[in-house]
Amino acid sequence: TACGTSWHAGLIGKNLIERFAQVSVQVEYASEFRYNHSIIDNKTTVIAISQSGETADTLAAIKKANDRGAITIGICNVPGSSVSRETDCGIHTRCGHEIGVASTKAFTAQITILYLLALKFADSRKTITKNKLKAYLDKSAINSGLRSLSKVLKAEKSINKIAKKYKKASDFLYLGRGLNFPVALEGALKLKEISYIHAEGYPAAEMKHGPIALVDKNMPNVFIVPKDQTYDKIISNIEEIKSRKGKIIIITDSRDKILKSLANDLIIVPKTNHFMFCQLATIVLQLFAYYIAVGKKLNVDQPRNLAKSVTVE
Ligand code: G6P
Repeated sequence: TACGTSWHAGLIGKNLIERFAQVSVQVEYASEFRYNHSIIDNKTTVIAISQSGETADTLAAIKKANDRGAITIGICNVPGSSVSRETDCGIHTRCGHEIGVASTKAFTAQITILYLLALKFADSRKTITKNKLKAYLDKSAINSGLRSLSKVLKAEKSINKIAKKYKKASDFLYLGRGLNFPVALEGALKLKEISYIHAEGYPAAEMKHGPIALVDKNMPNVFIVPKDQTYDKIISNIEEIKSRKGKIIIITDSRDKILKSLANDLIIVPKTNHFMFCQLATIVLQLFAYYIAVGKKLNVDQPRNLAKSVTVE
């Protein structure tokens, strides 16, 4: 349970915990959870995710879980915060003080913690082999992931160039599948928060059930396309948008020619694994939103109408 960006991290956590530890997970907005009829008892674990540790709705959700006898775990960036104090146990993301109102490094830290938690959880439930676990946590794999991150950060000039092309658009669609559906939601949220451009995130295949009606030659569509089991399916979604003259921006780890022929703009990130890909795509989308806002001469750190921590209901 969480709010805003932290809720998006929760969606990634659900995917990872179900994948590795084979436990069913529900992800609830804290503001809904506090009043709804979710079945919570002393056999439930509630993980509350919050950068600040002071979000009022998240605290109310923790109180409800505690009152029902659930085990509560906090994932939080601020030691000593209310979330840290009110939960039974927890993990600090410790990614440093986050200055900008729109969460960025807190999100990538939250999903890293959730990845590690899912693997530990899988280990203790014996749903993962020791060898697989070792491979996921191998130092050289982690170091190569970090090198990929710095390569993405170095690509910021080309991301800036693409951002400049689209800064006048009034609506964006962000599309991804699996782990990258929450990444699409988060990319759209970043754009809304700091550039004041309307953006929606959708599961790529769901786009044909409504959002496709919005597509015309003025509409940029950001596709997150790792070379995984749904790759071919996403290509056909891209073709559907292309045939309606929508602008196509693709973030991928594939060098296939077809992507080049479909994309108006193509951002290729290094090949890693499924989890690291979603980290890399997130950073590309954060930079993209950042440069659109900078291009529009907006205050990226203090966007209008938003607060870093929402301490009222
Ligand atoms: C506010 C911030 C968002 C943040 C959300 C949840 O709306 O502007 O960036 O994602 O609160 O905050 P939390 O501190 O609980 O993660």
